[in-house]
Amino acid sequence: MHLPRWGSVLEGLPQVPTVLIVDDLDLNRRLLKAMLKTAPYRLLEAKRASAALAMLAREKVDLVVVDLVMPEMSGPDFCRLLKTDRKTQLIPILMVTSVQGAENEITGIESGADDFLIKPLKPNLVRTHIRSMLRNKALIDSLEEAETILFALAQAVEHRDKYTGMHCERLATYSIALGQALGLNRQDLLALYRGGYLHDIGKISVPDAILFKRGLLTDQEWQTMRQHTIRGEEICKPMKTLASVMPIIRSHHERWDGTGYPDGLRGEDIPLLARILQVADIYDALTTARPYKPAFSHEHALEIMHEEAGRGWRDPELVPLFAEVTRKSGDPEMPVWPGEGTMQQSLDNMRRELAK
Ligand SMILES: [Fe+2]
Repeated sequence: MHLPRWGSVLEGLPQVPTVLIVDDLDLNRRLLKAMLKTAPYRLLEAKRASAALAMLAREKVDLVVVDLVMPEMSGPDFCRLLKTDRKTQLIPILMVTSVQGAENEITGIESGADDFLIKPLKPNLVRTHIRSMLRNKALIDSLEEAETILFALAQAVEHRDKYTGMHCERLATYSIALGQALGLNRQDLLALYRGGYLHDIGKISVPDAILFKRGLLTDQEWQTMRQHTIRGEEICKPMKTLASVMPIIRSHHERWDGTGYPDGLRGEDIPLLARILQVADIYDALTTARPYKPAFSHEHALEIMHEEAGRGWRDPELVPLFAEVTRKSGDPEMPVWPGEGTMQQSLDNMRRELAK
């Protein structure tokens, strides 16, 4: 039987970048097209901002070249629109103008344009700028893909256990509520959000027979189960953008008194974000039904958590704070993160961070 080689299959995929030229003057568009025709780009043109927006809605565009001065909507306004829309914010924009002056350049860049060129345009310069912008765009695309795959993998791990549906989202919500109460910065809140999804990704290496065993685990099985913290860290380590999530993945099973795993860390040696996620994780496990227990009420769950804190297992300050946060909101499932708290939102947050 003949099987295609993956390399040749991928080579067959279209990888020609699409460049959209937005300019009301035919001559300007023609000039730009002439400059770019030496490279293998797919060129689209729009006379007006509205036509360009319609094109962006239906086509995958990799770069936009826009004139600073346009009749319907100015270049900077058009830029702002693209940069505030989730679907177009990562498309690089090259703004061109015949109007000299640093003021214009500042306005263009402030509106979100990624690069700025002044007419008369020099063909070589235009080509070099566009090539470099497209290279960055390709890098962002590949990062997006890698992170999307990782998050999809985390979801797949979660779905193996049908009893914990929506667990990641609730976890992210609870941890962020706690993080906000502690006054953490946006970077840490984002790490908590990602940690809600990724903390148990290492469970992919735990066999079903152990993960779903109803009885007590043997010592050997516990050994395997505990490895999920280290495996998770290994899986995510190559992604530099996930550096802040790494301590959560590795240390979310440590205990305040040093009896947790994998490193037996104690007290404040346990990274704060990992302690926060742990409190959220325990609350969620207690308040949802599992094969071995019913869903406990909010009050009962907090009682158990206080008891565990008293026993020395949990951060003695975080548990009462969690009780306080959930009491204040009246509804522990309050949406504390902007948006619906979906996986899509999480990915969007990451993309925005990457775009900065
Ligand atoms: Fe875990």
